[in-house]
Amino acid sequence: MPFLYIANWKMNMHFDQALSFATTHHQELTNLSKNDSTIIICPSYVSLAPLATLFKDSAIAIGGQNCASYESGAYTGEVSAQSLAQMGVAYCIVGHQERRTLFGETPDRITQKCMQLINNHIEPIVCVGTGAATSHEGLPYESVIDQLLPILAFIKDTQLAKIIIAYEPAHAIGSGKPADAQSIEQVLGYIKNQFKTLSFCTPTLLYGGSVNETNSAYLKKINNLDGFLIGNASTNFQTFEKIVS
Ligand code: PGA
Repeated sequence: MPFLYIANWKMNMHFDQALSFATTHHQELTNLSKNDSTIIICPSYVSLAPLATLFKDSAIAIGGQNCASYESGAYTGEVSAQSLAQMGVAYCIVGHQERRTLFGETPDRITQKCMQLINNHIEPIVCVGTGAATSHEGLPYESVIDQLLPILAFIKDTQLAKIIIAYEPAHAIGSGKPADAQSIEQVLGYIKNQFKTLSFCTPTLLYGGSVNETNSAYLKKINNLDGFLIGNASTNFQTFEKIVS
């Protein structure tokens, strides 16, 4: 399976910057996304349609950063999963730690979003992680990994066969310091085992939190790791290129 490099541009790239990045580096990005590497770019809502058009029929996939938890209706400011699908969006991040802490997203809301995405053939990238920027040493993982239990219940209910799970501990996001490789490996192993009990669902496991060009090579060696969710470092092409190549 190719290693996934998911660029989460957050709100760091304005519309003109996103377009300029994508047009300037179109060929290089396409060359990078091949054989053993797959690149998924997640720009903000307004840049999704032009980027999906730009990378149509290429090896680059486009992902959303969020979607509505409802199908359609009077939900001012929201964007439906159906609209995302119509724009050519193939993946969508849900339940990012920033959405959970800054916008009050609950596990119920996140599972509703997953349902909307699945109904529209978009693959959810569900973020799970330790919710607070503190050490949880000694505590059982299930008590500190936000989101995992509701998402496991959702998978069981819907009999989903595959899903992407991104483990992102809060202390590592945007801090410049990734979690240590050993703890990432333990958590990924734990998540994988939890999924095994459901047998029919094999999760694709990502790590996110301060992945950059200096730490990506050693982080990549972590057992059970299938890819990275990359924030800051994905907004600079040279840095992103070093991580992927
Ligand atoms: P970061 O963000 O790479 O800037 O730490 C990762 C994320 O929040 O997805």
